[in-house]
Amino acid sequence: MRVLSILLVSVGALSCADPVRDDAIAALGPETSTPGPTHRAGQPCALCHDGSTAPEFAIGGTVFATQGSLDPAVGATVELDDLQGNPICSTLTNSVGNFFLHASSCNLTTPFKPRVILGDLEADMSSRVGRDRSCASCHKGIAPTGKSVEGVYLNVGGM
Ligand code: HEC
Ligand code: HEC
Repeated sequence: MRVLSILLVSVGALSCADPVRDDAIAALGPETSTPGPTHRAGQPCALCHDGSTAPEFAIGGTVFATQGSLDPAVGATVELDDLQGNPICSTLTNSVGNFFLHASSCNLTTPFKPRVILGDLEADMSSRVGRDRSCASCHKGIAPTGKSVEGVYLNVGGM
């Protein structure tokens, strides 16, 4: 038994596979469109976009039009600020509400604070993000429970 467990440990150490990551990716389900800027809206982009299976992102996510809806907020500015409120990087959401910055185009320092702006609408995250490169690591789009919070949204067309 002792020999067996030593063998198992060394096999684990030699393998590059990360079963937790693989399971998390599998749980997202199959590709339903073409890999590109408008795929997998609402999903944790950086889970795959870590430079191994897809180009590395400094940040990626999706902004929805209203609370609980799956309609996109199109053309919203997503700004990532340092703790003094100075912008580190910013980009715009596309036709499905997705946004992303490749690691090569944003040297995202941590912690940072996200801010989302569209016309007169603005939503600021009051807490800071320490490490996550995907908004949907936390903003899973389900009722707030434990570590997950609803999708990132503005109040497009609202009062
Ligand atoms: C389940 C894994 C996975 C998730 C989640 C995922 N992608 Fe991708 N993405 C890929 C793969 C694989 C490719 C194709 C990479 C290639 O062709 O080299 C790709 C390609 C892309 C590309 C074109 C290549 C590039 O880097 O410019 C963009 C843009 C993109 N995805 C954006 C996103 C955005 C935004 C999200 C989140 C809303 C996201 N992806 C979520 C796996 C994923
Ligand atoms: C580590 C978990 C986590 C990550 C990652 C995260 N958020 Fe948040 N976000 C929260 C929590 C928790 C709240 C609610 C409390 C607060 O505002 O700080 C929140 C609130 C917000 C709000 C304010 C919501 C409102 O009701 O006004 C916005 C906007 C927001 N986040 C945008 C983003 C964006 C954009 C990203 C990615 C760039 C992101 N968040 C990444 C956890 C996270």
